Amino acid sequence: MHHVLSVEQFDSSQIEELFVEADRFRDQVADPKQRRDLASRYVGKQLCSLFYEPSTRTRLSFEKAAANFGMIPISTENAREFSSASKGETIEDTVKVLNEYGFDIIVLRHHETGSASQAASVSETPIINAGDGKGEHPTQALLDAHTIFRKFGRLDNLRVAIGGDLANGRTARSLAQLLSHYKGNHLSFVSIPELQIGEDIKVKLRESGTGFEETTDMYDALRDTEVVYWTRLQRERLDNPDALPKGGFTIDALALEVLPQDAIIMHPLPRVDEIDPQVDADPRAQYFQQAGNGLYLRMALFDQILK
Ligand code: CP
Repeated sequence: MHHVLSVEQFDSSQIEELFVEADRFRDQVADPKQRRDLASRYVGKQLCSLFYEPSTRTRLSFEKAAANFGMIPISTENAREFSSASKGETIEDTVKVLNEYGFDIIVLRHHETGSASQAASVSETPIINAGDGKGEHPTQALLDAHTIFRKFGRLDNLRVAIGGDLANGRTARSLAQLLSHYKGNHLSFVSIPELQIGEDIKVKLRESGTGFEETTDMYDALRDTEVVYWTRLQRERLDNPDALPKGGFTIDALALEVLPQDAIIMHPLPRVDEIDPQVDADPRAQYFQQAGNGLYLRMALFDQILK
């Protein structure tokens, strides 16, 4: 593995190898002696986390993953304002300079779709796409898939309801693509018509034979699903988000009543108002554990790149 740019570059055996590694790192981190051993695994290696957009989970879990391996994380947040991008520097020039500094991995989040590929095109240093505009968020999809796999022991023959701002949400796009690599999945996309998932994703689903439907009826989608994957309105990517009709897509006590008991509720986070905090106490709510899974999945990715 060199650059990590898209979920499309992973086949099912690579994905499941990552899951095994992530679970192994989870066990090792939980054991004090093994945790100390891990902390010398990549001593001297350096991570550059280059974030042009805000992040809590992705940046901090990548940096924590680096710290768990004894790596040195060097970070810039809000690079859109505080790096020389604000003076007009291109992502290519920035990455060429970072290559001169000898980082071992660059984790990049950027507001423009395709920016991670642009960066990778000029980079000897491995680039990990930590979210590029409305494009992809491959490491989120991998940790999402791991969360599903930990619950169901499989990634095929699942009924998955994916809801929210599917036009602008890169996590929904990446997860739908990843699930299309597996047989027998059925996806229900729940959104208002203005925020439907992109045609490019629907084409991929059709080509792979993955069944899907689009609906505005949240309750209908929840009634018969195993995985609920809910997302927020991406206000920062919309010119006038307040002008959109309200979807009424909040997962709340009423929604829990129609959701099967063995389903799980996921969300890439941050949430705004699309999942009522009262839902957090329900055992089906898995979004905080899902975020936690990201630490170990990202350790596994680092290990694949560096070993
Ligand atoms: N899920 C996710 O990408 O969260 P952050 O924006 O906090 O990194």
